[in-house]
Amino acid sequence: MSVDRLRLIEEEAREQLAGATSVAEVDEVAGRALGKRSPLGDVKRGLGGLDADERKAVGRALNDTTKAVEAAVVARRAELEGAEHLARLEAERLDLTEAPPSRGPGHLHIVTQTIEHLEDVFVGMGYEVAEGPEVETDWYNFEALNIPPHHPSRSMWDTLYLDAGEPESTLLRTHTSPVQIRWMQEHPPPVRIVAPGRVYRADTADATHMPVFHQIEGLVVDRDITFGDLAGTIEAFCQAYFGRDFHSRLRPSYFPFTEPSAEFDIQQPDGTWLEMGGCGMVHPKVFEAVGYDPEEWTGFAFGFGIDRMAKDRFAVPDLRELFTNDIRFLSQF
Ligand code: PHE
Repeated sequence: MSVDRLRLIEEEAREQLAGATSVAEVDEVAGRALGKRSPLGDVKRGLGGLDADERKAVGRALNDTTKAVEAAVVARRAELEGAEHLARLEAERLDLTEAPPSRGPGHLHIVTQTIEHLEDVFVGMGYEVAEGPEVETDWYNFEALNIPPHHPSRSMWDTLYLDAGEPESTLLRTHTSPVQIRWMQEHPPPVRIVAPGRVYRADTADATHMPVFHQIEGLVVDRDITFGDLAGTIEAFCQAYFGRDFHSRLRPSYFPFTEPSAEFDIQQPDGTWLEMGGCGMVHPKVFEAVGYDPEEWTGFAFGFGIDRMAKDRFAVPDLRELFTNDIRFLSQF
């Protein structure tokens, strides 16, 4: 009789375990099925009142049933633990791909796009791209470029000096021209480089000026380079970058590091002119500063601002927009 009862007890325990929906419920069922006050406990307590043979048979059956229920508890527990673990992982998962779907994956800033386009055009014309530091010494930014201390032409650049070393010895570069000095110091001629980069001037920000902006500088040095090569290069660049309907012109100007010097402008298809930047034949004093023999080598240099080109190309009304990094503005381009 007790053996039949044991079978019923096991069946009931299995049913309850199958119906348990959490690990906690399984533990409750296990407590009820296997604890001291459980039906199994009752059978165990009753063993003493049985005769020897019966006690042996029921004892063995009790043992088997207890083991079977214990195994069923372990199995159901493992099942539910696995499911709970998965559910927790799912609930706690972080979506690291989160991005406003309307904005797409993002893109390069329009000044960077413009720099890369300029680099492509010059690399196509046989130039290498050079870079230099934004913090410069007075020697690289001015003296080596034939601008000695106290020279009146220094007023052409509103220099931002750094509080480092001797007064006015360290500065934020006011143009990318020091990169040509650094390049020539390290490389023998011939030279054909462009140096794009950030430059700084003590200027108040408004719609067309920023105290930080970008320039690109070009330098070509070889034997027998002439002013005609300079004019031809500016024209070739202008058509390669802007298009075949664009033309360039040079106007006499002054820079301490070039002689003769010129400003260059671009004529748009509608006939209007855009002022672009400066250029000229490298001054012999600059070659002397870097150890090039000015009797043997000649060259030209040119430099212009990049930000206004980006501003015009993308019809941005105010230069400051290029630097405030408002994602709503930047994502339009
Ligand atoms: N460095 C000059 C400037 O920033 C531009 C320039 C470069 C002029 C090269 C002539 C030759 O004003």
